[in-house]
Amino acid sequence: MAARRFSLLLSAATALVAPRQTATRTIARLAAAEPVVDLRSDTVTQPTAAMRAAMGAAVCGDDVFGDDPTVAKLEARVCDLLGKEAAVFVPTGTMGNLVSILAHCWERGSEYVVGDCAHVHIFEQGGASQFGGAHARAVPTAADGTIGDAAAVRALVRVDDQHFPATKVVALEDTHNLRGGAALPAGYGAAVAAAVRDLGVCTHLDGARVWHAAARRNEALAETAAPYDSLSVCLSKALGAPAGSVVAGSGDFVARCRRLRKGLGGTMRQTGVLAAAGLVALDEVLPKLEEDAARATALAAGLGALGFDVEAPQTNLLYFGLDEARFGFSARALVDHCADRGVRFLVVPGSTRMRMVCHHQITADGAERALAVIKAACDSGLR
Ligand SMILES: Cc1ncc(COP(=O)(O)O)c(C=O)c1O
Repeated sequence: MAARRFSLLLSAATALVAPRQTATRTIARLAAAEPVVDLRSDTVTQPTAAMRAAMGAAVCGDDVFGDDPTVAKLEARVCDLLGKEAAVFVPTGTMGNLVSILAHCWERGSEYVVGDCAHVHIFEQGGASQFGGAHARAVPTAADGTIGDAAAVRALVRVDDQHFPATKVVALEDTHNLRGGAALPAGYGAAVAAAVRDLGVCTHLDGARVWHAAARRNEALAETAAPYDSLSVCLSKALGAPAGSVVAGSGDFVARCRRLRKGLGGTMRQTGVLAAAGLVALDEVLPKLEEDAARATALAAGLGALGFDVEAPQTNLLYFGLDEARFGFSARALVDHCADRGVRFLVVPGSTRMRMVCHHQITADGAERALAVIKAACDSGLR
């Protein structure tokens, strides 16, 4: 990352055809520059050396013909991890959720129950209604990411009446992005699934960061996945792969998802190059996830000591705010000031909350540097 930034800056500097002495000074300063600490998201990671090597060596085939052995290997590996019958590799988490909800809401006039703060509901363009005509029944999301107790969720299922859409699936999110990376309470998914199953309603998990949820609750992934009829899990977030998600469920369900993936234009050809990186991510990054949560906790402690309003992190996501009157500057101004000094985090769109996300490329030194830059910013009043 640092090397890339350095070489980009270097070529920009060279292009200016600066006098030799100035260029030499500039190069020395840039060479000494510390790497950017990028806490905006766990999607900003660079593929590791092992991922790049595996991508280069990947045995590929046309996945539309079912000919890509590396994709097949990845799908089988995720089936094993999650204890499901079948799985399909999709380009993004958004498409994973979309094909899953549409596969559950196969008939016209279907409805899915979802939390009003779910990623599916807020950040995915209402894809299930936009592309598939499914109706979203959005219900309040509690601070822990739940959407009511099991009895309350059961009561949301529509009775069979010509006035109503037909409830087909309840979608949960674990960990919950807008709820500070909270892992759902132990047993919640199982209780919801048990409450709606006899009404013919399925459950889907947006498990973009299910890896962190399982680690937080100290569960095996298959135990976390067991209650759900389907899951969409991301390789490109906490796990650090360059792209891809996997949808898992029963054989029939996944066959339907494959069909939807093709119709939505998401079926790729020699995509073993991406699956290969995903396989490495499962070996290389998955075992170390708890370090991200520890780093987020350390950052939270440091920010709390500086007077920020910090929401205690459970996993790798950390949200915090500031009292503008007391600090004398806004969240936006702080974020911009720190970005200029090589520490990147973000203001949540449409709010004044700030977000940091730890990932496997945030080291202990990086976290310390982030805190030092923020402290200097506060001490100087952003001057
Ligand atoms: C909880 C959750 N679900 C789904 C997604 C969508 O993933 P993608 O960006 O790969 O479409 C995200 C993205 O950040 C997410 O945080």
